[in-house]
Amino acid sequence: MNEKKLYIETYGCQMNFSDSEIVASILRDNDYSLTADVKEANLILVNTCSIREKAEERVWKRLRELRSLKKRNPQLKIGVIGCMAERLHDKLLAPEHGVDLVAGPDAYRTLPYLVDQTAAGAQAANIQLSLEETYADIEPVRLDPSGVTAFVSIMRGCDNFCAYCVVPFTRGRERSRNPQTIVDEVKHLFEKGYRDVTLLGQNVNSYHFTEGNTSVGFPELLARVASVDPRLRVRFTTSHPKDLSDSLIKVIAAHPNICRSIHLAVQSGSNEVLRRMNRKYTREWFLDRVRSIRQHIPDCTLSTDIIAGFCGETEEDHQQTLSLMDEVRFDAAFMFRYSEREGTIAAKKYKDDVPDEVKARRLQEIIDLQHKHSLASNRADVGKIFEVLAEGFSKRSNGMLSGRNSQNKVIVFKAENVKPGDYVNVRITGCTAATLIGEQVSQ
Ligand code: 5AD
Ligand code: SF4
Repeated sequence: MNEKKLYIETYGCQMNFSDSEIVASILRDNDYSLTADVKEANLILVNTCSIREKAEERVWKRLRELRSLKKRNPQLKIGVIGCMAERLHDKLLAPEHGVDLVAGPDAYRTLPYLVDQTAAGAQAANIQLSLEETYADIEPVRLDPSGVTAFVSIMRGCDNFCAYCVVPFTRGRERSRNPQTIVDEVKHLFEKGYRDVTLLGQNVNSYHFTEGNTSVGFPELLARVASVDPRLRVRFTTSHPKDLSDSLIKVIAAHPNICRSIHLAVQSGSNEVLRRMNRKYTREWFLDRVRSIRQHIPDCTLSTDIIAGFCGETEEDHQQTLSLMDEVRFDAAFMFRYSEREGTIAAKKYKDDVPDEVKARRLQEIIDLQHKHSLASNRADVGKIFEVLAEGFSKRSNGMLSGRNSQNKVIVFKAENVKPGDYVNVRITGCTAATLIGEQVSQ
């Protein structure tokens, strides 16, 4: 009767997915079991994202739906955790939303206590940010059902203060996790059959751990993780161009199991916009980093993030973004229209003065150009053979497997006697802009 059942729903970035696994672990140690059926739960946690207005709107809509479940189950408690909880705690706790508790990204250890506090009908909140919390000792409950790929959080917070970004306010100061705990977690994952780990942080390449005489930077950490086993693929995201050093590029080049794909968010191709964004690099610096990657790791793919219509962006600035895209030819990109976030440097300092329809048109031009580049990049792979790590069965095509190559391209392929976790040589026979299609090469 009194079984504790937790349903957890996650919005936003991979960091949030990784955090949900930490939250699930903390609550499991307090006698909760996970359920995939929201109607069965007596505790629902919504892990939220604040990065753009739209991300928050989606959560408000979902909270309205979840609130109605309370009519059938008066014992049900609803908690909002993550970035929105940090940013909008008071608003979320207004009685009409039916939210019982809020917990910010550094307060997850106190969740069992917060839930207890709500038992008698009170509301509970902890939005304290921390300078030290890395959840280093918590073994996450893996929520991804594949059993092949996993995220490992290596640092938290961000000190960059890009003018548009809410993250330094919702996730607090940057801090790096003890490297030994990272390597141990990765070893456990490998022993359990995982074959692809992604090291996660808001800015992984500024990872730096110091304690006593120990001082470990990102290149060294990456090399240590890659040395766990050559059959383990290692990825990392997301990196900041300003910290992408040649020594990091050389570590990637030296380890065949560090994946040949780098996500390097450029945001804009205009120096003036980059300056206002507080990105701390120029277009020329970015292009130089791309050159260095291509020189040392010729088969490396590049993906990026781009924002259209940042404060003060002129038509000429926008053209600079398009021309940078043409110069680099990214293999993939996440593209957004600028969305002003309260409290950020941009909200305080600059006017959000690009009209909506101009933002929309510029974004569409960026998307169309990227589509062309993604398609060309995939077409160039037709006829090649890649080693693919099978992750599962394709959702769309019956009987086909799905996996990725080292370059982080999704490949849907025909194969026999292959199970998730196997490496398969696949010949590419066709493609779309988003996916490669292929078949197993007979042995
Ligand atoms: N508006 C639009 N896009 C944003 N991003 C971050 N903040 C904003 C914002 N206020 C984008 C950036 C970042 C990605 C995660 O989200 O491109 O790299
Ligand atoms: Fe969203 Fe950024 Fe928070 Fe991730 S860190 S959940 S992207 S606001």
